[in-house]
Amino acid sequence: MNILIIGGGGREYSIGLALKKDNRVKKLYFSPGNGATDMLGENIPQNDFEKLADFAKSNKIDLTIVGPETPLVEGIVDVFKKHKLTIFGSSKKASQLEGSKRFMKNFLARQGIPTARYIETTEYEKACQFIDTLSEPIVVKADGLCAGKGVIIAKSKEEAKKVALDMLSGESFGSAGSVIVVEEFLNGYELSVFAICDGEDYKILPAVQDHKRLLDNDEGPNTGGMGTYAPTPLIDDILYQKIEERVVKPTLAGMKKEGNPFEGVLFIGLMIVKNEPIVLEYNVRFGDPECEVLMPLLKTPASELFYKAATRDLKSLKIEFYNKYAVAVVMASENYPYGNSKPSEIIIDKQMSKELEENTHVSFAGVSKEDDKLFATGGRVLLCIGVGDSIRQARDRAYELCGQIHFAGKKFRTDIAYQALKHD
Ligand code: AMP
Ligand code: GLY
Repeated sequence: MNILIIGGGGREYSIGLALKKDNRVKKLYFSPGNGATDMLGENIPQNDFEKLADFAKSNKIDLTIVGPETPLVEGIVDVFKKHKLTIFGSSKKASQLEGSKRFMKNFLARQGIPTARYIETTEYEKACQFIDTLSEPIVVKADGLCAGKGVIIAKSKEEAKKVALDMLSGESFGSAGSVIVVEEFLNGYELSVFAICDGEDYKILPAVQDHKRLLDNDEGPNTGGMGTYAPTPLIDDILYQKIEERVVKPTLAGMKKEGNPFEGVLFIGLMIVKNEPIVLEYNVRFGDPECEVLMPLLKTPASELFYKAATRDLKSLKIEFYNKYAVAVVMASENYPYGNSKPSEIIIDKQMSKELEENTHVSFAGVSKEDDKLFATGGRVLLCIGVGDSIRQARDRAYELCGQIHFAGKKFRTDIAYQALKHD
């Protein structure tokens, strides 16, 4: 099978790595890929969907897998399907679950799926009236994609009104903020659940916990995610069942009923309040760095899972996972998440213990290659992933690998998985 992966981050690298282990996979392509994905396949620097579809046809691509949200929201799946190509991802319309918070909230309300009380509006006065009915803090969200920055938790009503005005006037997020959602603040703990969907059927993946803040003890600014582990013990069978019955099933049934059957990765961001799952948001793709811990736990060949999902055949698949744990630690560049950093060469120690060689690996993200040398180019540079029989063992292995990787300005959290280990 020839497979094209759209994207160029650690998420796409980890999907590539899982496919590489799969002997059904002949050749891998990445578009655009990064400085390290060309060790797994061939990079295709192309972002025009029609041209990519032409490429897929002329290179006999059997399956395309889309990593990031932007091409999904912009309709890459619709273009590929028009050309009768097999692609794993959500259609442009179904991607509105992530692309438009207004669409998402109204969908949740129509389907009776639990979510925070809200209004969506284009009018400042309406926003203010609703803000006055809520207790502080108050959540204000821009409707469109804002690279993870469009959600503001305002401490006071005055601040919420100012945020609403700045969004509606286009000052904060341009046109992405011309519609806003104002909602009540939920107090609980967050959990991400992923389901692979084919429009009809679904397979739920092990629950992952991300660490969004830059610094240890969940301090510092929000980031795209500084580390993950799976499966997390923060979820038990009863909660799992509630999530499946009250969220996953009604979401898929609702999307189908409304004419937008959901295919691809449904990523459900939940707040667990008094043991009840409440939907904060949907994403229509794997989380990054969540994907990097899910891929090494997948026992079912990755090509089979994604191909069956893309061809409405999930029903015939028995999905299996290794009875193990995985921990991923993100190594970021010096100025992340504030700005760019100077490129610096990445040196990986050549001497590695057998234990590390067998139970760890690197997933490359913000890297480029020059003269066969890898350079950190900014942002989240790479992830060290450890696999083990316990979270502690996986965590220790991931951190040991971190100690063997060097680049100027490297930084990482030292407490990934601390919530799970607290109970050890
Ligand atoms: P979202 O993109 O909607 O998931 O929001 C980003 C982050 O904002 C979430 O991961 C939560 O930490 C926080 N958040 C969003 N909505 C709420 C809410 N209603 N109550 C509390 N926190 C929220
Ligand atoms: N790690 C969170 C995300 O990918 O949205």
